[in-house]
Amino acid sequence: MHNIAIFASGAGSNAESIARTFAGSDIARVALLLANKEDAGAHERMRGLGIPSLTFGNDAWANDPGRIIATLSAHDIDFIALAGFLRQVHPAIVSAYTGRMLNIHPSLLPEFGGKGMYGMRVHRAVIGAGCRRSGATVHQVTDIMDEGAIVMQAAVDITPADTPESLAAKVNELEMALYPAAIKKVLSEL
Ligand code: GRF
Repeated sequence: MHNIAIFASGAGSNAESIARTFAGSDIARVALLLANKEDAGAHERMRGLGIPSLTFGNDAWANDPGRIIATLSAHDIDFIALAGFLRQVHPAIVSAYTGRMLNIHPSLLPEFGGKGMYGMRVHRAVIGAGCRRSGATVHQVTDIMDEGAIVMQAAVDITPADTPESLAAKVNELEMALYPAAIKKVLSEL
């Protein structure tokens, strides 16, 4: 049984879909959520599912990776899914979980990735560039933002009527199935 930790900063829709997908599974379960904000909506969603969720301040994420790794070990975590986590993960944590840490990004990487490309900024840039397609990408986490090996992608068509907001909703809908599927794939190959 794999114990997954999710790192999140925001609403937590991906965290919830992953947790629900694996609830009752004999392959894996979401055992912990770590956030960098007390007010992340993800906490509430995990509470509703009986999954422990904790906050570490930005200082701990930047300067005290040992504390975070100790917490992961205390919960027997062997796999990490970043889901709307708006921080670069400390290299010590990346190195402790190499090949066992995924991220989801709301574009078809390598397009529209990298520093400053997150949330609505991505969808505004995609619409602004006149793209006819966008999507979501699940990739391995390395020390270079949005650059690890791609595990799975899903695409969606953009119509002339689409706005950054409508595109965000379409991409989020794709993510709900894509991320759990990508996690299953990587777990099955470990
Ligand atoms: C998702 O669009 C994800 O691709 C990006 O941040 C968003 C998180 O949304 N990395 P949520 O917090 O899972 O609802």
